[in-house]
Amino acid sequence: MKNTAQEHFEKEPPHTAIKHRLFKSVYDSCISISSSFNNKTKEKRQFVYLDLYAGCGKFNDENLGSPLIALNSSKTQLENPSNNINKINMILSEQNAENAKCLFKNVQEYIDNNNLSNNVVSTVLTESWENCTEQFKQGLNNSDWGMIFADPFSVELKLPDLKSLIDNNSKLKDILILINTNAHERVLGRTDEESLSKIADYFGIEIKMLRLLKRQVQDVEQLNNAVVIRRLISRTFKDIDKDFVINVAITRTKEGALENADRFYLCLLTSSVGVANAFLDTYSNLLNEKIQQNNNGQLSLFDSNTDFTHFELTQKIKDISSNKTMSLLKLFTKLYNDFYSWKDASPNEIPTSKNIKTAINNLVEQNYLKILCTGDNKAKYMTADGKKLKSNAFQKKQNLREIFLQN
Ligand SMILES: C[S@@+](CC[C@H](N)C(=O)[O-])C[C@H]1O[C@@H](n2cnc3c(N)ncnc32)[C@H](O)[C@@H]1O
Repeated sequence: MKNTAQEHFEKEPPHTAIKHRLFKSVYDSCISISSSFNNKTKEKRQFVYLDLYAGCGKFNDENLGSPLIALNSSKTQLENPSNNINKINMILSEQNAENAKCLFKNVQEYIDNNNLSNNVVSTVLTESWENCTEQFKQGLNNSDWGMIFADPFSVELKLPDLKSLIDNNSKLKDILILINTNAHERVLGRTDEESLSKIADYFGIEIKMLRLLKRQVQDVEQLNNAVVIRRLISRTFKDIDKDFVINVAITRTKEGALENADRFYLCLLTSSVGVANAFLDTYSNLLNEKIQQNNNGQLSLFDSNTDFTHFELTQKIKDISSNKTMSLLKLFTKLYNDFYSWKDASPNEIPTSKNIKTAINNLVEQNYLKILCTGDNKAKYMTADGKKLKSNAFQKKQNLREIFLQN
C-alpha cells in the first residue's frame, strides 16, 4: 500500500506548480550568477546542489519535481557556450525507500538521455538528511558556489540542524526553505507540551520562551499565531551570514483549486541582488496571473495607472526613508527582509528592481526624495537631466552601495 510520501507524487497540484516556478527562478539565477560573477578570466567553476527532501524527481503525470527541474536547468546552462560552470555536483536525500528508488531511476535516465554524465555527478542518499550531514558538508566544502533546497511536508524540520549545516562554508550558496505555516499555526493553536515542543524544536527555542511569545502576541498585542510564526522566522535567521531573508507566502490546493490564502512561506536566504530579484519578479508575475484569473483574464481599470498600482510600495519607501539619507542598498535590504502575502499583496508592491525604480522615480518627481550620486556615477546611474535613476543603477549590489537617497 502507498503511503502519503508516495501518494504526493501521483499528480502535481496547482500550488506545487507555483512552488516549482519560484524554485526554478532561484536555481536558474543562482547557477547563471555563479557562472559570471566577478569572473573576467572565465575560470571554470563547480556548482553544488543539495536537495534535502528530494522526493521522486518526477510526478506520475510527468511534471518535474525539484531534482529534475534542477537537472533540466543545469542542462540549459551547460549548453550555453558562455557558461563557466563545468561541473555540477547534486546530492539528493530522500528517506522513503520507494521514492528514493524512483528518484535514482529518474535522475539516472535524465543524465543518460541527455549525455550529461561528464558534467553532472549525482548522489542519491536513501536516508533522512540529518544522517547525511557529512556528505552534505563535504559537497559544500568542495564547491564555492551552490544552492540548498529544504522542502519538508510539515513541521518535521529542525532549523538549528539546517543552520549548523549552512553555517559551514555557505557564503556563496543560496538557500530556499519551504515553511508550512499552516501546519505550524495548527500545532501552535494547541496547548499541550508535546505539540508546543514540536514548534520549539523546529525553531530551536525553549518551550518556556515559546509560551511567553505566544502570550505576548495573543493576549497583549491581540494578534494571531501567524504573527508568532513570522517573529520566530525572523528571530531564527537574524544571525545568518546572508544579506537578505525574503519570505513570500504561497497558497495550497483545496478541492483541485487554489485557495486565496497564505498557507506556506518560501523563505530565500541570499546575498545576491540578482537572485533576490529573480525570485521576487517571478512572485510578482504569479500574483499578476492570480488577479487576471480572478478577473476572467482582464486587467482591472487601475492596473495601468502607476500612481495607483505602486501606492503600497511608494508608501513603504516613504516610511523607510523619512527624514533620512540612506544608501539604496539599505533601502533594498529593508524592503527585501519582509513577509509578502499571497492573499493580500498587489504585484506592484513586491520589491522587484523594476517596481522600486518606478516608485523611487515617482517620489523624486513629487520632490519627496533626492538622489545623491557623485562623479562618474552620476552619468552611469542617472538620466541625462540628472534627476531620475536608470535601470543599471539596480543591477549590482555595488551600484546600490554607491547611490544615496535623501528625504
Ligand atoms: C514535499 S516532498 C519533496 C518534494 C520535492 N522537493 C519536489 O519538489 O519534488 C518531501 C519529501 O521528503 C521526504 N522526507 C521526509 N522527511 C525526510 C528527511 N528527514 N530526510 C529526507 N527526506 C525526507 C518525504 O519522503 C518526501 O518524499
